[in-house]
Amino acid sequence: MPASGPRTRWHRAYPERVSIAVCPGSFDPITLGHLDLIRRARSMFDEVVVAVARNSTKTALLDPGERVELAQAAVAEAGLAGVRVAQVPGLLVDFCREVGAQAIVKGLRGGADFDAELPMALMNRHVGTIETVFVIGDPALAHIASSLVRDVARFGGPIDDLLPAGAQEAVRAAVRRQGTGNDGGGTR
Ligand code: PNS
Repeated sequence: MPASGPRTRWHRAYPERVSIAVCPGSFDPITLGHLDLIRRARSMFDEVVVAVARNSTKTALLDPGERVELAQAAVAEAGLAGVRVAQVPGLLVDFCREVGAQAIVKGLRGGADFDAELPMALMNRHVGTIETVFVIGDPALAHIASSLVRDVARFGGPIDDLLPAGAQEAVRAAVRRQGTGNDGGGTR
């Protein structure tokens, strides 16, 4: 610890050195696949921060505050100790520095995920000197993506065994508010 005292609020809260990972994502909404990843990240790090961030290439269904609340409820419901949820106000690497994270942890369901994640991992290392750790999720959950869940929900399909309980009704309600948006245009 430097003579000037703790570096961040996080270090003040945890004066003993702990390993901290950030699990970032849009979480629009949090899925059972995300929870599997968070659980695996927690098995490797003392603390995990689930970081709800903005992906400027996507149009969100849920607003950021709701995404945070749903993730908090899901983490609590899953009984995951040592995991907290926070909103990322700007750049992910700045957030990682603020919480004192040693690594970003992201899940891979297959090659397409790797292709999407590699440039982000390289960019985050370039601008923030933080490493990204890739974790292979449960193959039984590999078909679950928030974008597909939103699409299934938009057309009235069942989403019960794809999402934590608290998120299911929130997604249905958001879809009712927005409608199917089936105008032929696409968002991811
Ligand atoms: O779940 P997603 O949409 O694949 O997560 C991507 C996300 C939100 C983690 C990424 O877009 C992000 O880090 N956004 C925060 C702003 C930022 O730092 N952008 C540069 C990323 S290289």
